[in-house]
Amino acid sequence: MKIAVIGSGYVGLVAAACFAELGHTVVCVDNNQSKLDALNRGETPIHEIYLPELLEKHRGRRLTYSGSIRDAVRASSVIFIAVGTPPLESGDADLSYVEGVAREIAVSLNGYKVIVEKSTVPVYTSEWVRRVIRLTCPEDGEFDVVSNPEFLREGTAVTDFLYPDRIVIGADTERSRHVLEQVYAPLANGTYYTADDRIPEPCDLPASAKVIHTSAKSAELIKHASNAFLAMKISFINAVSNVCESVDADIEEVRLGMGTDSRIGSAFLRAGIGYGGSCFPKDVAAFRSVAQQARCSFRLLDDVISINDEQRGRFIRKVRETLWTLKGKRIGVLGLAFKGGTDDVRESPAIAIVKSLLAEQCCIRAYDPAGMNGAKQILNDSISYVADPYQAAEGADALLILTDWEDFSVLDLGRLKQVLRYPVIIDGRNLYSLEAMKNSGLMYVSMGRPTVQPSTFASKKQEFGEFAK
Ligand code: UDX
Ligand code: UDX
Repeated sequence: MKIAVIGSGYVGLVAAACFAELGHTVVCVDNNQSKLDALNRGETPIHEIYLPELLEKHRGRRLTYSGSIRDAVRASSVIFIAVGTPPLESGDADLSYVEGVAREIAVSLNGYKVIVEKSTVPVYTSEWVRRVIRLTCPEDGEFDVVSNPEFLREGTAVTDFLYPDRIVIGADTERSRHVLEQVYAPLANGTYYTADDRIPEPCDLPASAKVIHTSAKSAELIKHASNAFLAMKISFINAVSNVCESVDADIEEVRLGMGTDSRIGSAFLRAGIGYGGSCFPKDVAAFRSVAQQARCSFRLLDDVISINDEQRGRFIRKVRETLWTLKGKRIGVLGLAFKGGTDDVRESPAIAIVKSLLAEQCCIRAYDPAGMNGAKQILNDSISYVADPYQAAEGADALLILTDWEDFSVLDLGRLKQVLRYPVIIDGRNLYSLEAMKNSGLMYVSMGRPTVQPSTFASKKQEFGEFAK
């Protein structure tokens, strides 16, 4: 099929590369010329596993780039809209980019087109897109609008796309439903999974992707409700983690006990400094706004948001309780991205915590395997950026773990102890077992678990133990 993807960001670029991988001819559109130039030079603008390989494999063959929506629409029968939908002050999604793109599509129609919302949008958006195109396009313009939400996690977006749990097709006409079925046929009928040169499957591989047909409105709701539910799981476990701290229980034991109940499931029950990223914060706020506009009380979402916001403050209090005063303290920071496996720092809890520590006049040396360029654009030179975790720890009063990069869970603890000024790790992501830490000689403060005090601290109680919880 001939496909246009408008918006070449974290979602659009991955979708475009994966559609090419499924055998379609794809033109990827963006209004950012420097991004297009980089893509044409063979660069990959984001950190996403398998994306460089796919872009290289299909660039100039099944995958091309363009700055012209008009040309792309005219060359394609299916047009995916994947431009950003950032939050407004009010919490509503800013749909002005979607509207602008819809108008341009409308004036470019040359025959029947299926226009697909890929961006996360509130429930009434497909109606609006349909209306805007109808009012703008020529009288004989033929089109359908479909909602086909993405469920791509940054860091595993390519395998999430190619090995999905489900594909939701929210089409209100038989004709457009059929077109979308063709787009995803290699995943739905499993032929992609027999290709020798396929992207390797994750270990929990579904046999083939389950296709769920719904109305466009239901599909829009599925996306918001799914993200809000996952965010709720995270806020729930963070609230339980706070109770654990008060009663000296261990959240990791509680998580195991809860998560093994198949009705609950173990995913998205990791306690920490709260959820961030370009989706959960924005989508929960937008969903709450949708519910308010529909005059439905959904106060649960208020709590999901406030528990998440408070979690960062709790972490700062933990740092303060451990180090006593913060002014002038030298803090090593591991992690700036909103989660491991990505360079994305949008709504990163790590960045929020760094900003709070800067406001307390701490001196920060930070390391992130992929997020430092993004962080520099927000934090400029207010912190030092170093080349590895040990440099971040060097001479520091404490080392904070703020992002769950796998690399950070296998550090040489002996070496860390040597380079730190005080042997203290405060882990906002619970990357280490208490057992491992007990033998490390480090003080280890984590989330929802008892603090590990190394035996050597007993003799140093005078200088340290007083302010260690
Ligand atoms: C996407 C979705 O669109 C958003 O709704 C979802 O919740 C998260 O994922 P994302 O891919 O993360 O957003 O956004 P971003 O990486 O900012 O990419 C958007 C791209 O669209 C950018 O490359 C931008 O240059 C481009 N764009 C934006 C256009 O081409 N035209 C526009 O009018 C606006
Ligand atoms: C999310 C959705 O999962 C995905 O389906 C799509 O809709 C886009 O938005 P993403 O934002 O890339 O994906 O990351 P995700 O893995 O969902 O994590 C979101 C945030 O929650 C991160 O900050 C992460 O660290 C945090 N998180 C996740 C936890 O704190 N605990 C968990 O158990 C899981």
